[in-house]
Amino acid sequence: MGSKFDICFVASEMYPFSKTGGLADVIGVLPLTLHRMGLKVCVITPLYGRLATSEYSPHLVYEDINVGYPWPEISTDVFKATFHGLPVYFIDRGEYFDRRYYYCTHKGDYFDNCERFIFFCRAAMSLMKKLDSPPKVVHSHDWHAALINSFIYYGKRHDPYWKDTSTIFTIHNLAFQGRFSVRLFWDSGLPYEAWTPEGVEYYDSFNLLKGGIAHADLVTTVSPSYAQEILTSEFGCGLEGILQKRSHDLKGILNGADYTVWNPEKDKYLAAGYSWDSPQAKAACKKDLIDKLFLPPRLADRPVLGFIGRLRTQKGIDLLLEIIPQLVKKDVGVVVLGEGGAEYEAQLLDLMERFPGNISGLVGYTEEMAHVIQAGSDIFLMPSRYEPCGLTQMYSLRYGTPPVATAVGGLKDTIKPYPDADATGFIFDRPDSALFLQALDQALALFENKEKWREMQLRGMRADFSWTTSAEAYLKAYKSLGYAEDKKKISGKTPSDVI
Ligand code: ADP
Ligand code: GLC
Repeated sequence: MGSKFDICFVASEMYPFSKTGGLADVIGVLPLTLHRMGLKVCVITPLYGRLATSEYSPHLVYEDINVGYPWPEISTDVFKATFHGLPVYFIDRGEYFDRRYYYCTHKGDYFDNCERFIFFCRAAMSLMKKLDSPPKVVHSHDWHAALINSFIYYGKRHDPYWKDTSTIFTIHNLAFQGRFSVRLFWDSGLPYEAWTPEGVEYYDSFNLLKGGIAHADLVTTVSPSYAQEILTSEFGCGLEGILQKRSHDLKGILNGADYTVWNPEKDKYLAAGYSWDSPQAKAACKKDLIDKLFLPPRLADRPVLGFIGRLRTQKGIDLLLEIIPQLVKKDVGVVVLGEGGAEYEAQLLDLMERFPGNISGLVGYTEEMAHVIQAGSDIFLMPSRYEPCGLTQMYSLRYGTPPVATAVGGLKDTIKPYPDADATGFIFDRPDSALFLQALDQALALFENKEKWREMQLRGMRADFSWTTSAEAYLKAYKSLGYAEDKKKISGKTPSDVI
């Protein structure tokens, strides 16, 4: 039983099947958009224990495909589901993926992450060899799937199956590299020659992400600004050297927002739907948020600020926690949804106890509350130290919740800063709590001017980050690698026509 695909996506998360962050959102929409444009695309991803699949009834399509790692006779089963017409393959090996959390628990990373994701990449390679013909392009994402690029790079030398396959590797977050002991390299199946500073070696450690950068035909990242930033020592996370070497093959393609999922007009989680030409119902969503988080009703007449994200220093959660006592003095509401660093979680809970009339939140992960907060807040907070793209600020723009954000990465590329005439939000220069507070003061002052505030909200709600533009940029990238469209098969429709 086989199939023929031109483009194979390989990634460790895909919404709605699995999700810890923006990677899942991207894999849940980009391949589907390309599929709807007429490309023959499939996705390969792990079958996790927490997989939300019932609606799509995955079924077993391959049993016991040999993977050969970490011992010669190890194999995998493969399930397949059809997601709005897009084939999705799930790599099923219970002892690696049937876990409540994908990568780590509160105690730290799983000890066998290297083994798990070498297995995943090798299983994806074995699966691709079962297809009717080799894919023209393999598009892999982040460190978990980075080794695919190294396997194909070296595989081409002795296995004619891969000779016409090109690779593209997208970095969603350079800080997560998958760095492991050299001992794990020896069993990975890569040849000895891969162990060089131009390959997977990074100061005597085995660096999977570095292999992706070194061996992919094309490297992309998720915003043009981040593509520039990662060439510097400030943002390069130690990999700026190899990125500079590959800079001619490095491109920034801005992510889009999936408006089929993030649209306040048709959002199943909201108390009331609203849009840019009928924004009044946003007030009902604010009331709903206040009720759901047990905040006092008087906050309906005060600005409510929302934060959604991993409670990590990347997201600047420490900057927010630091200024909360000052925000309380201004009598604003602050709502936080996130999980992550245990220390930040404890600080947040402590602030919620100290200031129950102003601060509320949830430590945990809930898709519903992410939507409720986007819609019910007045101002969205994103004080990130770095941000490869950031999706939540794009969603907040569509939900009429102007963002206050640091001038980094994709935040710079998506928010038009106040006081420009076309402003959609507020930007401050560096991750610094005083600057954050200053920008917030500007936002709070404008919020008092109802007419000007409404104008800013409407500009944000009308901003269009639909996947059309990004999908076309990826198509162009595939073509630059030799992928040629089958003209008869291309529908001629743009992604926005078909979504
Ligand atoms: P990142 O991928 O760096 O976490 P993005 O802005 O690209 O940041 O995407 C984050 C995605 O994860 C968004 O869809 C956001 O709504 C979601 N998200 C983050 N934290 C939570 C949470 N605690 N509960 C629900 N959704 C969350
Ligand atoms: C990463 C980045 C985030 C980006 C997301 C999707 O998790 O931190 O900025 O939006 O990937 O590309």
